[in-house]
Amino acid sequence: MTPDSILYLNRNENLYGPAPRCFEVLRSITLNELSVYSRDFARGVKSSLSERLASDLKIPEAQLLLGEGSEDLLKQAVHCYLGPGDKILCPAQSWWYYRALASEVGGETVTYSLKVGKESYLFDVDEMIALYQKTSPRIVLIASPNNPTGNSFPDDQLRRLVDSFRESIVILDEAYWGFGDSTADRISAFAEEYRNLIVLRTFSKYYALAGARIGFAVAGKSLGRLTKFAARYLGYNRISEALALAALDSAEYYKSVRKEMVKDREQYYSFFDNLSGFKIFRSDANFVLVRIPSDKAQLLRDFLVDRKIQLKFFSEPEFQNHIRITIGTRDQNRLLLQAISDFSSSSSKELHP
Ligand SMILES: Cc1ncc(COP(=O)(O)O)c(C=O)c1O
Repeated sequence: MTPDSILYLNRNENLYGPAPRCFEVLRSITLNELSVYSRDFARGVKSSLSERLASDLKIPEAQLLLGEGSEDLLKQAVHCYLGPGDKILCPAQSWWYYRALASEVGGETVTYSLKVGKESYLFDVDEMIALYQKTSPRIVLIASPNNPTGNSFPDDQLRRLVDSFRESIVILDEAYWGFGDSTADRISAFAEEYRNLIVLRTFSKYYALAGARIGFAVAGKSLGRLTKFAARYLGYNRISEALALAALDSAEYYKSVRKEMVKDREQYYSFFDNLSGFKIFRSDANFVLVRIPSDKAQLLRDFLVDRKIQLKFFSEPEFQNHIRITIGTRDQNRLLLQAISDFSSSSSKELHP
């Protein structure tokens, strides 16, 4: 719970919090470290964090870019490559900011739709390729897992897409990387093979450091212009970098958080699968999308306000009668599921007194 005792399950934060090592590192930062630039640029690298990430991911450091979260790197990539009148192709059902980006530089947004499958949302690769050929966008944006639908791009489909989009810049937003079941990491193979691909990752979600505002991008070999655009010759935020390094040193902690979340995600599935009128979509992220009975949105929202719980209710037409729930800690999840269970029995009593 937050100090105002509202449970925020609407913001896709990782409510388990960062690894204990992050707090130790924070306490040990000295005044001297705060008053000087890092000067890592003079050593021929961006920073010790970019060096560490490059080594962990087996990617040349030159291809590793740092920024203030993936929002910042996404903005930089679009401002670097999209000009007035250029098109950006992005998912219609997605983080709202994708659809606002083009307007910052006088560009145009074209959207592709995701399909509703039996258990989860799906990307329609054939339709995306057809739309690409018709509209010739300068940038294509793909999110895996996608927010708020939670579905990911399987490797083979992603390869087919990026192979078909070689004439454009492809941005793959992996902000929710780490919460899925798979531990295989495709990033180094992609960085080697695809010269026009930018993969965005962040410390905000899996590593629970949203407040530190730190993320990174892996840029394909043809994207030197972005590397220059994103360069910060005086260095980066030392505190955020130290926190990120401490998080990377705490792999076991984050694996155990992931394990708990995967179990709780399953619990959400079985709860909503058995609740009449609700439909939950399978997710590889730390949130789930749920369709709720029509006309219940306002009632549910009011009910949850009384219980001091906030979920994401959408204003977009595609997601009318949908909620997005951030998976919290075990106790927080229990609290929410109890509240929804109470809501559902009180509203069925109203219908059948
Ligand atoms: C899909 C997606 N990408 C990127 C971000 C930005 O994350 P950050 O800037 O904290 O790395 C968000 C934030 O919620 C998001 O939902």
